Amino acid sequence: MSKKRLSGRRALVTGASSGIGAEIAKVLAAEGAGLILVARRRERLEALADQIRAAHGVEVLVEVQDLAEPDAAARLFERTEGEGQAVDVLINNAGFGAFEHFVAIPWERHAAMMQLNMVALTQLSWLYARAMRARKRGNIMNIASIGAYSPSPDFAVYAATKAYVRNFSEALDYELKGSGVRAIVINPGGTHSEFAQVSDQKLKKMGEMAMMDASTCARIAVTKMLRGRRTVVTGFMNAVSMWLLRFLPRAWLPRVTSLVMASAVEKASAVKGGTTEQAAPGQPSA
Ligand SMILES: NC(=O)c1ccc[n+]([C@@H]2O[C@H](COP(=O)([O-])OP(=O)(O)OC[C@H]3O[C@@H](n4cnc5c(N)ncnc54)[C@H](OP(=O)(O)O)[C@@H]3O)[C@@H](O)[C@H]2O)c1
Repeated sequence: MSKKRLSGRRALVTGASSGIGAEIAKVLAAEGAGLILVARRRERLEALADQIRAAHGVEVLVEVQDLAEPDAAARLFERTEGEGQAVDVLINNAGFGAFEHFVAIPWERHAAMMQLNMVALTQLSWLYARAMRARKRGNIMNIASIGAYSPSPDFAVYAATKAYVRNFSEALDYELKGSGVRAIVINPGGTHSEFAQVSDQKLKKMGEMAMMDASTCARIAVTKMLRGRRTVVTGFMNAVSMWLLRFLPRAWLPRVTSLVMASAVEKASAVKGGTTEQAAPGQPSA
């Protein structure tokens, strides 16, 4: 990388203990940004922090927070901006899904998912956007999904949370016009991470073939953010598929999505003979 485009900036990455968030943190550090890494698993965050400090020589702080707790976003803001740690780049990446019939998923899991994927993301955007706007600079990156583009049976709440993130983020970027602050929404397709395991999905051969590396997804996300894009679908085939979806009658979308999902994934618990009703709400898988 020739010129470090984020030297002197500080980025906060939620969900940095694995997958896409960990890879985004590395790309941001390679661009010269100092980091605040946020998730629940401290050891994972500390190990990543050591690795990034050694590789890129930037300052890396670790903040352990369960963002599914209703007061966590405000606490995180206090622990950062409240203590003089200005955040120039906010990456709202933490999120999880639950792959099962809506009624079979325990309510606590739905509630934790909506709190994390939507409420915490929105509150963090609100808190940091105000601080960024006052400084007349900043970037907010919200991670949605290609699930945002269609109602998804067996992923009903998850896909709906991502549709919310997509719509919210695009409107936010429009509102921020001229303020020096930008928002971008990244819509990844299947990406290698712990997501499938946490969501109770087992990939089939077709699903495996369509997967992207988290590092590739992260590179695309940061590059597009620095280019000033508002909304991005990662990967050419994903982008073409999401574009084509707009030509289908809306009434067809649940069936089409269900068929596509069935070709790519199955329920891991069904394969093992268990049930997701036993899963704890949004618990880390490792
Ligand atoms: N992988 C895919 O195929 C895919 C596709 C489309 C969109 N996405 C989206 O991409 C984002 C990143 O997911 P990923 O694929 O990288 O999955 P992942 O490997 O499971 O990472 C999820 C991250 O979120 C953190 N997290 C989960 N619950 C949390 C909580 N209550 N409080 C704080 N942090 C929490 C996890 O850390 P701890 O467990 O340590 O808290 C972890 O760092 C998610 O928003 C996901 O919806 C993923």
